Amino acid sequence: MSSLLEARGVVKSFPGVKALRGVDLRLGAGEVLAVLGENGAGKSTLMKALAGVQAADGGEFLMNGDPVRVDTVRGAMAAGIALIHQELNMAGNLDVAANIFLGREFRKFGLVDDERMRREAVTYLKMVGLDVDPAVEVGTLPIGKQQLVEIAKALSVDAKVLIMDEPTSSLSQTEAEQLFVVVKDLVSRGVSIIYISHRLSEIVQIADRVTVLRDGENAGELAGDEITHGKMVQLMVGRDVDRFYQRTQHELGEVALEVKELRTTAYPEHAASFQVARGEVVGVAGLVGAGRTEMLEAMFGVMPALGGEVWVQGEKATIGAPREAIAAGLALVPEDRKTQGAILDMAVLENASLASLKRDARKGAFLNREAEEALAEKGIKDLSIRTPDAAQLVRYLSGGNQQKVVLAKWLAMKPKVLLLDEPTRGIDVGAKQEIYGLIEELAKQGMAILFVSSEMEEVMGLSDRVLVMHEGEVAGELKRGGITEEQIMSLATGGVSQELKV
Ligand SMILES: Nc1ncnc2c1ncn2[C@@H]1O[C@H](COP(=O)(O)OP(=O)(O)OP(=O)(O)O)[C@@H](O)[C@H]1O
Ligand SMILES: [Mg+2]
Repeated sequence: MSSLLEARGVVKSFPGVKALRGVDLRLGAGEVLAVLGENGAGKSTLMKALAGVQAADGGEFLMNGDPVRVDTVRGAMAAGIALIHQELNMAGNLDVAANIFLGREFRKFGLVDDERMRREAVTYLKMVGLDVDPAVEVGTLPIGKQQLVEIAKALSVDAKVLIMDEPTSSLSQTEAEQLFVVVKDLVSRGVSIIYISHRLSEIVQIADRVTVLRDGENAGELAGDEITHGKMVQLMVGRDVDRFYQRTQHELGEVALEVKELRTTAYPEHAASFQVARGEVVGVAGLVGAGRTEMLEAMFGVMPALGGEVWVQGEKATIGAPREAIAAGLALVPEDRKTQGAILDMAVLENASLASLKRDARKGAFLNREAEEALAEKGIKDLSIRTPDAAQLVRYLSGGNQQKVVLAKWLAMKPKVLLLDEPTRGIDVGAKQEIYGLIEELAKQGMAILFVSSEMEEVMGLSDRVLVMHEGEVAGELKRGGITEEQIMSLATGGVSQELKV
């Protein structure tokens, strides 16, 4: 097959890290090529090199057999290559249309022509199935919708090669399906796609070919029927990863968390009530926009609740701010690690230890430096965080490894109730298995765990009980053993099942 885009022998180093050690990549015209690899394998680095965001140290790049220079974004764009970043890159205070046409604004009489941009933006918003007002500020949209705006933006530059670095990590299954329709539509119009995801079922669904990176090198390729879950994992991790969800039956303790009639700004008229026992793992399913993140944030004092009560181990908690939530025994691993989770310009050590918590909590127990270091080292080991050392700034870790740092910090706190919002977002299969093992272990020790996830498999596999949310209410509750995807979907979309209604 003739190649549209080819990269040969790409190398890239950072201080202390050889991210790419001579990687080859070949993309055929009209192809959907998936690039896989564990967290830190070098996927994003390779994509940034292809798109001129961060030039490679060496290597050759060819379009249709001719050498091209992709050492700047401009150069890559001229060659027809566009990248949708793993980390959202939007200007939150600008409106949707302005973000889509950022740097390429339409002008009329020398002034930015907002009206035209908003009109034209609608075309691209339609392509991604996003029904929002182009005049609305991007920062006010939930993260899933911001992601779709980012995709609309890439579509508007009319790329021949569109690189998507984990485009679905903050999308629900329904929105991801919508994205696949967009991908197929683009392919039928002659666009070739490079697609990165840790959700392997998606790869099976949309990739024509798979190439795997391991430690900055090519680890192998799969095409057609060879693209199976098992083969992909084998190439990525170098071992079989099975028995993903190792939940064991254990005694549930007394009620650790009780939420009574909690109302948030997402659906001011609706209220959620539920309980979680000690040792119980409860999954919260629902469509993006069902009010799940808002619920966790209100419980944790990140945003004010409009009403309702939170009880922790039989005591009513007053929660006006995160430090009060922490004092009451709650911990929240947020969905958006970049703004709420990790402090990018601090070292892994400080992020993973209680240092950052103490700043939040002000009155955390005194810990000495050595104890803190030991704790951070334990986190790095337990979650296999890939970093040259604990002094590395979090900014320089790969996306999945940043997520692990955030997890490590909260786990170190040993809260009574652990709230997790999309805990394995962007995390590779091997590490996911480790995190599931950790959750099981914590539950066994008596922690109450409430987690929000858009990955159906994860919700069904990990939960003792599933709460399905719809428009700010608990639309239904399903017990382990009898949970099906159909039931969850039906409740999530507002279908009411009488006997399940709580
Ligand atoms: N600017 C940087 N400075 C230092 N190290 C970096 C920088 N960018 C990436 N790295 C390192 O290069 C390696 C590859 O990172 P990369 O982001 O390409 O991984 P990835 O395969 O995209 O992982 P993930 O699945 O977690 O997104 C990692 O060890 C990472 O820490
Ligand atoms: Mg990456």
